[in-house]
Amino acid sequence: MHLHFPHPRVDFGHIIDQVRDAVKHYKHEKESEAHQIFRQQAGHNPKGVLPQTVNPDEETVPGILHPGSTGVIYCSDRAMANGFSYTSSHEWANLGQGAPEVGPLPNAPPRPDSIKMPLDTLEYAPTTGVKELREAVAHLYNHTYRQGKASQYTFENVCIVPGGRSGLSRLAAVIGDVYTSYQIPDYTAYDQVLSAFRRLVPVPTALDQKKKYGFDIEQAKRDIANQGIAVILASNPRNPTGQVIKGKELKDLVALSRDGTTVILDEFYSWYIYPENESEFGQSISSAKYIEDVNEDSTIIIDGLTKNWRLPGWRVCWVIGPKNLVTALSQSGSFLDGGANHPMQLAAIPLLDPVHVKQEKLALQKHFKAKRDHILKRLKALHLEVEIPPTSTFYIWLNLERLPAPLNNGLTFFEELLKEKTIVIPGIFFDINPSHRRNLFNSPCHHFVRLSFGPPLEDLDKGIDAIDRVLKKARKSGMQAFGQGYKTEIPDEVLGESAVA
Ligand SMILES: Cc1ncc(COP(=O)(O)O)c(C=O)c1O
Repeated sequence: MHLHFPHPRVDFGHIIDQVRDAVKHYKHEKESEAHQIFRQQAGHNPKGVLPQTVNPDEETVPGILHPGSTGVIYCSDRAMANGFSYTSSHEWANLGQGAPEVGPLPNAPPRPDSIKMPLDTLEYAPTTGVKELREAVAHLYNHTYRQGKASQYTFENVCIVPGGRSGLSRLAAVIGDVYTSYQIPDYTAYDQVLSAFRRLVPVPTALDQKKKYGFDIEQAKRDIANQGIAVILASNPRNPTGQVIKGKELKDLVALSRDGTTVILDEFYSWYIYPENESEFGQSISSAKYIEDVNEDSTIIIDGLTKNWRLPGWRVCWVIGPKNLVTALSQSGSFLDGGANHPMQLAAIPLLDPVHVKQEKLALQKHFKAKRDHILKRLKALHLEVEIPPTSTFYIWLNLERLPAPLNNGLTFFEELLKEKTIVIPGIFFDINPSHRRNLFNSPCHHFVRLSFGPPLEDLDKGIDAIDRVLKKARKSGMQAFGQGYKTEIPDEVLGESAVA
């Protein structure tokens, strides 16, 4: 146990208090108020670990098993219990936000502000998407990553989907009775999407902090050989660690797809990379660069307008892969979602023009790098240095282990920041199905929170000011004030304001 307080002037009395607190409260989730609130939510009862209790929220609709609130919904509900509402949202700092700011950026093309709706867009679009958009996606990938290669993408390698999660569920629906592996922490939705399709079995392994959360290709190879893994899924760049697999490692990963394993790479943050050298700005990273034959290599790419183009509300995304995959996704799309919004698909076409893309990428990288550097500097000034700073995405995976208990666990830190009108995401949501398996205190993500630097700079500063206030309070009054007194009721006036995404 580390009992380091992030301030140079710690007196001995404080240390004794800390030890007492640590011993008293924090060995098991049962002793933590924040964790007990989490357990009381529908779908979060531990299964197999503690005796099952009847949860009326789960059983009021015959035959319906509540899937448990997703991390985003849980965090929004907890924020509402602490007074957050969409009318008061400007008073809050939302560092939990998994979306980039959508407003104009310096030197970026103007934001789209109108769309056309020709009569035929009132019809359904094909479940694989509008052909011109599929062609535009294929062209962009060939232009950016595949110049000079014999094998080129065509529209037949592209399936347009109504959002990234829709792409994931279309994919999950066509994965057979196989083992699918992914390494945690990774994007929260994988756990739920994969477990909603019960034929496939997710096999998680934990990424090692000592290896900077790098993807362990050797481990992947062992899993393929020993456990019969047929599919590998990873976000790259990775949400929430902000690390990226690139160069030879990415090449090796793609090579697995020529040896009988399907490799699914979720590349939603492929533009959010921050080279040290200004001359390297404007690049992006994709496995498309290392695919040899676009119809033979079973590497599947998911991306879309949500993050890179900063248009999460458009719900226009794509899955790229061998032709046979695209025809399978057309089938699953026809029973799952019915296809992406027709007018928005037409509106997306000009945004995929390589010249436009280059300008967007450059503006985005400069702006987000400045925000990243700013927030890292401010955290350092608070003695919350980020050991493994993000080289990509807009997330910081912050280890709180060195704070005194109970601030050293993500869920309690989250609750304390809610009192200060700031939202972060507790790390346990990036674990696989954590509430159903074990004492949450044993999760590899227990000591972490994810901070997003997606929002505008002023909001980030507001959030860091809130962290500063919590740490000052700890210094001034000790730890007694923390870990308790959390509000649990959502006020009537905000009930029904559901979470975004
Ligand atoms: C890695 C990753 N993939 C996919 C998505 C989801 O994209 P969409 O909002 O288009 O469903 C997200 C959003 O947070 C993400 O972080």
